[in-house]
Amino acid sequence: MTAVKLILDKKREGHALGSAEIREFIEGFCRGEIPDYQMSALAMAICCRGMTQRETADLTEAMMRSGAVLDWEGVTSLPTADKHSTGGVGDKLSLVIQPLAAACGVAVPSLTGRGLGITGGTADKLETIPGYDASLSLDSFKKIISSVGVSMTVQTDEITPADKKLYALRDVTGTVSSIPLITASILSKKLAEGAGVLVFDVKCGKGAFMKSREEALQLAQSLVSGAKAAGRKASALITSMDAPLGYAVGNACEVEEALEMLSPGECRVAVEKARALSVELAAEMVSLALNMPIDQAREMCREKLSQGAAKAKFVEMVAAHGGDLAAFSRLLEKPVFKYRIQAMRSGFVSAIDAERVGKVALSLGAGRGKATDRIDPLAGVRLSVAVGDKVSLGSPLATLEKSSDPDGLEKAAAELFKAFVISPDAPQEEALLLERID
Ligand code: URA
Repeated sequence: MTAVKLILDKKREGHALGSAEIREFIEGFCRGEIPDYQMSALAMAICCRGMTQRETADLTEAMMRSGAVLDWEGVTSLPTADKHSTGGVGDKLSLVIQPLAAACGVAVPSLTGRGLGITGGTADKLETIPGYDASLSLDSFKKIISSVGVSMTVQTDEITPADKKLYALRDVTGTVSSIPLITASILSKKLAEGAGVLVFDVKCGKGAFMKSREEALQLAQSLVSGAKAAGRKASALITSMDAPLGYAVGNACEVEEALEMLSPGECRVAVEKARALSVELAAEMVSLALNMPIDQAREMCREKLSQGAAKAKFVEMVAAHGGDLAAFSRLLEKPVFKYRIQAMRSGFVSAIDAERVGKVALSLGAGRGKATDRIDPLAGVRLSVAVGDKVSLGSPLATLEKSSDPDGLEKAAAELFKAFVISPDAPQEEALLLERID
């Protein structure tokens, strides 16, 4: 098609594409008229030449309109909000943030992902609760939003099919790491979900998609400006992902830790830090959705946690999805193969490499190398320490767990051991929350 070739030439030469050109390209790709090789060529040209804010907004809109766009009017009278995380290791915060925001009076329709690679997926974690249905029809999703106010389910094929098709190509053509393409991919899905408020948790560091602060900042600004251009209220927090969040990295063990965060009262030090970050993110949603000063929203979130209202909302959501928390407790008691690693010297834990921990958890069966892999719900890593902790020779550092067979545990343990840096001096305490963008 000549027009297609002209568009490819134009982007390759670094010119901005027109709105209609972008829309027609995406529409043609979805209809199967533009073959994968031409779409891949455009993705590569975008990777190399970039896109203006306006082009990114046009690409986002074209991708959003490739499938169903949800509308919450008539389903709930509450303002709607969602949080999106770019993904990290041990990132179970959605399990806390979404019911917490719902307990504050915000409806949270959350279409979530399955894990691929080292970052876990919220849907996989929730599905370790026996009976939890994370593949709801849009109809059932709406019913739960109407009755409970929060639902977390996987995105159906009806939402942004263009992203699904394009992401599969980007994955194999070296075109994932482009801010306009990542923005359009994330934002098209979130806009199609129809929430009025979008809060982004842009992870930055060793265990994150964005390794540097500068890249994270660019992505955060691009997501927030794109969401605002589409008429939504939005903000982003850039948060550290050098070390795993909390102590648990896996699926069932992360749900267990999320329940600790949701339960009133004190929790373990690193869990408390993750809980404090959850409060910040939920407060962003509440503040924007209810037009409330951030301090007041933060206070409200803390109260809902300490009164047990956030946990009650989580329990209600799980029940509405068919989940059985008593059966989940029994699952956690099932015997698993374990391997413990210990400190070989005394000192302070000055780093725990999130990427390495994530890879080890993945190798144990806690994640997927490819989309069709099956997950072992009980596989994962339970850290015994957090960055800053003092250890002695022989102190436990972590336990590796898997339920299927003990093969690979020893090799994985040797890898995991390399994730820990133990130094003579205590490291400087680093905040999880690095920067806010609005
Ligand atoms: N997550 C997405 O959904 N899309 C991207 O392109 C990258 C991360």
